[in-house]
This record gives sequence, structure tokens and C-alpha cells, in this order.
Amino acid sequence: MSSFLNGKRILLIVSGSIAAVKVPDMLRLFRKEDADIHCLVTKGGSHFVTPMALASLSGHPVAQDIWDESEEASIRHIRLAREADIIIVAPASADFIAKMANGLANDLASTVVLAADSPVLVAPAMNHRMWHHPATQRNIELLKSDGIRFIEPEEGPMACGETGVGRLADPLKIVSSAKSALSCQSANKNLVNKHFIVTAGPTHEPIDPVRYLANRSSGKQGFAIAAALQMLGAKVTLVTGPVHEATPVGVYRVKVETAVQMKDAVEAALPADGAIFTAAVADWRLPLSASKYKKDQDPPELMLIENPDILSEVAHKKVNRPTLVIGFAAESENLLENARSKLQKKGCDWIIANSVIETKNAPSAMGGDYNQIHIVTDAGVESWETMSKKDIALKLTAKIADYFKAAN
Ligand code: C5P
Repeated sequence: MSSFLNGKRILLIVSGSIAAVKVPDMLRLFRKEDADIHCLVTKGGSHFVTPMALASLSGHPVAQDIWDESEEASIRHIRLAREADIIIVAPASADFIAKMANGLANDLASTVVLAADSPVLVAPAMNHRMWHHPATQRNIELLKSDGIRFIEPEEGPMACGETGVGRLADPLKIVSSAKSALSCQSANKNLVNKHFIVTAGPTHEPIDPVRYLANRSSGKQGFAIAAALQMLGAKVTLVTGPVHEATPVGVYRVKVETAVQMKDAVEAALPADGAIFTAAVADWRLPLSASKYKKDQDPPELMLIENPDILSEVAHKKVNRPTLVIGFAAESENLLENARSKLQKKGCDWIIANSVIETKNAPSAMGGDYNQIHIVTDAGVESWETMSKKDIALKLTAKIADYFKAAN
């Protein structure tokens, strides 16, 4: 199993807040994703979580003191800032946020943040009155305008016995925000304002007013790709069959039921710079029976009619063909062979092959949260290790951004 964070160097700055007791959980999550995580703890932070615990759980010595002569020979604050792919301040106390907003550099943590050129992600944690205080809000606005990203604190009971906004965000959310920030950082800016059409989910083909033909597609991969493209600045039209996924923020969603409706929605969304067809479109539909088939009659003879192949039609367009057309091939056997022949037949640029049969090393592509993909192009096959569909989306959109960079 691989992860988008595999080998990424993360510097976690722990400042003085009771929420620092959640840092061990956070470290476990980052290590589970194979991130190379290092900790720096402020004096205040070390009152809540010991440097010994941070060192044991991160697997690295913990940075603390700016006046450590042995370390300053290598100008440690600059080195720590430079080596990190991302710096996360979690928990960030009101005091540390104020320091950052004013550019103070009077301890190792604030000096490192001031010397940073990698993305900085801040997860505040404090009493709700401190959070709502105009001074804190002013500092946050200032830092946001400097490009610092915030993971908003949550509402709930606080250590002081009061209830309100100010609890440290869930460690899982901090991990996923780190992934998003790294993805935006590593991808070039070539997707900004580009229009992408993404199809996702199954289609439902009615048999009669109550029954339909369907498949097990969850839409998860397509939704994750749409969200990742949007994060990189693309305008996204997401055409979906009936699924239960929430629409990603900032994505324009068109809901359809049948393959014919999906085709019409895709046509209406053109022109586009890129089109990614993750939907498991039903290959056939039926002539709709106006009334419900009755059990006491003979079993109906269902006549199947071929559905339009949306991917193939868009990829073969003479006018308005998107620059990059990507199809998915869900196969139960001869995965790569079938994918190669689909690449030719459908006329698309990339086919992403995934298996619908679960094996010891790879999950089934249908329904679950994980997948293993092979990107088949005229140039050959690129196989990725099993990872979450969200991580696949982040890695895939970075590859798409590179494609557009080369095409420019
Ligand atoms: O031929 P097959 O269904 O395996 O092809 C899969 C690819 O073609 C997927 O990208 C799918 O979204 C697309 N497709 C389509 N319209 C169809 C059938 C498949 O766009 N009617």
C-alpha cells in the first residue's frame, strides 16, 4: 500500500495548548502514511507533550532550543525550514499565531516559520473567547493574506469546561489538509481556469416505472478527481449518475440518471480542456415500458439497446475535442490487453485500467475506498501501487498538470 505522503518531509511545530495531547495520535496517522515527520516543540508545547514522546513517535530527535550551539553550526532554523516539504503548526496557540502575524522570531519555532519557503499549514487550538477575540481574528486575516493556510478549529466542549469554537481540528482532517496543500504546491499552475468535465457513478437504465438496470459504481474516484482538479484552480463540471457522495466545494454538478442524459449533459458542458470519464455507464438500455411488468404475466423479454459511448464520441470529435481525454477501463480479466485495445478503439489519450476482481495485492475498483491503477498511453504503461482513491486523485491531477505544462 502506498500513500501520497510517502517520503514527504513534514515539520510539525507543536506550540503551547492543551490540544498538544492529541499530537501523538496525529504522529501515528502521518507515520501510517509513510510521511517522514519531524517535530519541533516550543517551551509551552513541551509542558503538554514531552519531547521524549514526540521523538519516540516520530522516530527523529525533536528540535527545541534556538540556543543549541552544536546545532547552530549548521544554522538550524534555516535548515529545518528548507528541508521541510511542508510545515504544520498544530496546535497553534493564540500567542504563536500572534507571533507569526507580527513576524517575531524570538524562539526556534517562530524563526523557522519566518524562514519558510514551503507551505505553512496552521491548526489553531484555544479557548473560544480567545479564538473570537478581534486581535486573534485580525492576526489570522493577516496571515491568510500572506498565503498561510488554516485548518479551522472545531466547536465543542473545551478543556476549561466552556463550550465553543476553538478545539483543534480532527487529526485526520489535518492529515488530509496536508495532502491537499502538498498537492497544490507540487502541481504547476497550468490547470488554473482550465475547464474539466468529469463523469462519475453508475447510470440507471429504467426497465419500467419502478425497476432499473444499474451497477456497483460508487462514484468515489470521479468525485475525488473533481475535488482535486478544483483545488488546483480548474473549473470542473461533474456529471454524475445516482450516487450518495457530497458535491465537492466549488465544483459545478449536473445530476443525471441514464446514459443518454449523461451524454447530453457532457455535450452541453463542452467545450472543455480536459475530460475524464470515470462513470460506469451502462452499455445497454431498454425500451421503457410505460406500465409496471406484472408477476402474474410471463417473464418479460427484455430487449437491450446499445447506449451511446460518451467517451468514444467525445474523443473522436473533430470540433471541440478536449486537449486531454481520459477513460477508465474496469476489467475482470486481461486488464492491460483490454485497456490497450480500448485506448485505440475509443480514441482517448490515456486509459486508466483497474481490476474489478479483488486479489491478495489489489482491491476491486468498484465501490471501495482503495484502488490500484495502471495508466495506459501510447508511450506505455505506468502502474501505481494500491492507494486510496483520494490519493490517486491527487497524484493523477499532478500528472495531468504536468501534461498541460508540456502541451503549453
Ligand atoms: O467500454 P467500457 O465500458 O469498458 O469503457 C469504459 C470507459 O468508457 C469509461 O471511461 C467509461 O466512462 C466510458 N464509457 C462511456 N460511455 C459508455 C460506456 C463507457 O463514456 N456508454
